Amino acid sequence: MKGVILAGGSGTRLHPLTRITNKHLLPIYDRPMISYAIEALVLAGINEMMLVTGGTHAGEFLRLLGNGEEYGIDRLFYAYQERPGGIAEALGLAERFVADDPVLVMLADNIVEHSFRSTVEAFADQGKGARILLTEEDDPVHLRHLGVPELDGEGHVVAIHEKPQTPPSSYAVTGIYCYDPQVFEVIGHLEPSGRGELEITDVNNWYVGQGEMAFDVLQGFWGDAGESIEAYYAVNDYVRANGANKS
Ligand code: TTP
Repeated sequence: MKGVILAGGSGTRLHPLTRITNKHLLPIYDRPMISYAIEALVLAGINEMMLVTGGTHAGEFLRLLGNGEEYGIDRLFYAYQERPGGIAEALGLAERFVADDPVLVMLADNIVEHSFRSTVEAFADQGKGARILLTEEDDPVHLRHLGVPELDGEGHVVAIHEKPQTPPSSYAVTGIYCYDPQVFEVIGHLEPSGRGELEITDVNNWYVGQGEMAFDVLQGFWGDAGESIEAYYAVNDYVRANGANKS
């Protein structure tokens, strides 16, 4: 399984910090944010990966990560996203790198307490389709800012609703997704959304429509450090007190 870490975007919710650097270079406790996603993929057994970034600070990722040896990566590739055209557009840049392999995608502002290795293994057995990681979220106010899956009584995803007024479940879709290589064909047919981006939720809903979407529920803490300045500090406090990426 190949890995793709997405670290482009504009990070407007963390302005003005992200006017002077890339969001994923900001510190989470004692290291740059990006290193947590790298560590999570290595811990999940993935050691061939591509980092997609953009903006004016892309060179700093090379300075930090180099060829990835220090992090236990066998082969580290980089891609540059010319403008923040959406998560699905950023993933599309990894098409030739991923080629005919399954891929795990992680948004570089996501921080997890526990390894998702079991999901990577389950997706290898699944062989086809997609598999996403959900997190339990009881606060409906928070859910209204996230992607929320609608589930049927048998544990299947019926649809994913982006920022729903009335959340259809108490789960949120995290930024960790597994796809088979047909994902690039799906991305190729996407139309930009109202905000002018290629949306990963459209990709996920395509797999839902095909009946090929599986999911796992992430155990322990999950944080999106890019959601707001409060969320950024909450993730910092959590990691400082408890650590992250435990097996
Ligand atoms: P978002 O947090 O949805 O977008 P953003 O980083 O542009 O932030 P904001 O909404 O505050 O302006 O994106 C989640 C992750 O996806 C982000 O950490 C990096 C990645 N991403 C890309 O790589 N390219 C993109 O074009 C976008 C929008 C996001």
